[in-house]
Order: sequence, then C-alpha cells, then structure tokens
Amino acid sequence: MPGVFEIVDKDLLGRTGRLFTPHGVVETPTVMPVINPNLRLIAPAEMRAYGAQMLITNAYIIYRSDRLKQAALSEGLHALLGFDGPIMTDSGSFQLSVYGSVEVENAGIVAFERAIGADIGVPLDIPTPPDVPCARAREELEVTLARMAEAKAHAGEMLLAGPVQGSTHLDLREEAARRAYAMGFDVYPLGAVVPLMESYRYADLVDVIVRSKMGLGPDGVVHLFGAGHPMMLALAVALGCDLFDSAAYALYAKDGRYMTVDGTYHIGQLRHLPCACPVCSGHSAQEIAGADEATRTRLIAEHNLYVTFAELRLIKQSIADGDLMEHVERRCRAHPRMLEGLKRAMDY
Ligand code: GUN
Ligand code: ZN
Repeated sequence: MPGVFEIVDKDLLGRTGRLFTPHGVVETPTVMPVINPNLRLIAPAEMRAYGAQMLITNAYIIYRSDRLKQAALSEGLHALLGFDGPIMTDSGSFQLSVYGSVEVENAGIVAFERAIGADIGVPLDIPTPPDVPCARAREELEVTLARMAEAKAHAGEMLLAGPVQGSTHLDLREEAARRAYAMGFDVYPLGAVVPLMESYRYADLVDVIVRSKMGLGPDGVVHLFGAGHPMMLALAVALGCDLFDSAAYALYAKDGRYMTVDGTYHIGQLRHLPCACPVCSGHSAQEIAGADEATRTRLIAEHNLYVTFAELRLIKQSIADGDLMEHVERRCRAHPRMLEGLKRAMDY
C-alpha cells in the first residue's frame, strides 16, 4: 500500500510533510478550519484565500438533518459545501461528549461518511475526559478500539482516522497509540484534549502528546483534535503534531476575540492592530469594534484565519531552517502556563 504521508523536513520531533488524499495533496503542518454546515460565517469556497488547504466538518450534523443528509447523499459532501479540496468529517463523538448520547451508531456513521465522499472519516470514538478513574478510561478505550476495528470494514477507499484516547492516563495513551498503529490508520487524532487546553494545562497536554507519539511510528500522521490557537501551534508541531482543526477562529470572533501568536485580545481592548493581514491593514481597531455585529464577527474571523496560517508558514520555515527550538521558546514565553509546557517537553 502506498504511504499517504511523506516527510519533507524535520526539526526536533516536528516535521513538514505531504499528506495525499483523494482530493489532493496537503502540506503539513496545517490547520483545518471547522465548517458548521448550518451556519457558514465564511464560505468554504473562500477558505483557500486565507491559507486553508483542507477543511473539517461534522458528518453527524449532516446526518441528523433530513435536508443536509439528502443533499450530501445525492450530490456529495464536496458539492454540498462548495469546496473541491480535501475534507475530513468528524463522527459526532464530540456531541457525544457534550450531550452524553448520540442518535447514531458507529458502523452507520462511518458508512455515511464514506457514502458522502469524505476524504478522511472518523469512527465514533469515546472522548474520555481528563482525570477520570483508570478503570473508566480503560473500559471506554476498549470500546473505542473495537469501534475502530469495525470502522475498517466500512471505510472502503476513504482514509480512516484512528483516534487515540486514554484520558490523562499516560500508560493508556501509549497503549492506545501502539494498538491503533498496529491496526493501521491513515491519521491518528489525539482525542479529548480540548479540556486540557481550555484550562491551560499545557504540561499535561505535552505528556499526552509525547506518550501517544511513543506508541506511534514516525510515519504516523498526528492530528491534535480541537487545537488551532496560533499561540500553541509551534509547541505542538515541535512535539510531532501534523494536523489541527479549529472552530475557534469563528467562535472567538462571535465574542469579539482577536487572536495573536501571544494570546487573545478583546477587540475593544485594542487601540492598535498588531497585524499586517488585509483586514488589519484596511481597518482600525476602532472601526472593527464599532461595526455592526455581523461585520465585526466576519472581520475578526478573517483576521483569526490569516494570523493562524501566517504562523504555520513561519513554523514551516523554522523547520526548514532548523531553528524551530528558538521559535517555540519565543512563543512559549507568551504565557506562563505555556512555559510550563515547554519545560515538561524539555524533560523528555
Ligand atoms: N473533537 C474534539 N475532541 C474529539 C475527540 O476526542 N474525538 C472526536 N471524534 N472528535 C473530537
Ligand atoms: Zn490581522
């Protein structure tokens, strides 16, 4: 079987590479903007202009809506979204972790992801949150691994992700990664890390990434599920993460939150815009803050995307130049908790 991933340059555990999908080649590391099929702040067709190469959307949201489901099945996912590049679909596991249950089972959602033409599909893994008792993490991990095996029978030619769970039990993370890698998947998402990032537990996040990486071969493509803030990309890439996804560009924008590589500002806090993107070159902070809600949200979302992809280009150049460490140190000084993460990384 030809590999789906080719490494180009390496520095620390980070690498630039090429990921081959049915709808084209993606240069990694990259962030997949999350497209909510119901509310499209920025149309998928426009995403390339900001630097996006690949998108991610949610097959479960499409599946649950009769209108979207029929459209996706008849015209395909790419026509439905209006994007002809690679599209990954998530399975509804995130909804499972938020609402406690979902109205679909594993084989059904994987067959649906394949039927609508997703480039990469995800089984219905169980995102076990941090800090749960080991017995629960183990039990849920076994269910996830069984569903991953079942998914292989329904994926056909679709690339398949094999999520690595295990909560904050590092021995379980390593075992989960080793068993997933032995089964053979095209992408390995590290799951249920959003709560760690939301509470700034970067040292714990570093543990999860490093121990998961220990169970995977170096050719395993690593996706850090739900991570996409430009502040933390350098550290995660240096630890070997290749793919990210972000709904934050849009969710933050709705709250007036403006992303930078040093953290997030509320647009009302800013007297000056520390950015050279087309939005920030063409508007003042006061203009954006004072605009009507739809315009403000749209402009901040655009900036959030521009700043994210500019940071990725800088990270890729640092890898090519062999000075990723300097870049990571610079970024980790933005937040004391990120510095803790860097220290933990240095311990390995
Ligand atoms: N999105 C954020 N975290 C997760 C996860 O653990 N699993 C899946 N399927 N999607 C996610
Ligand atoms: Zn900007």
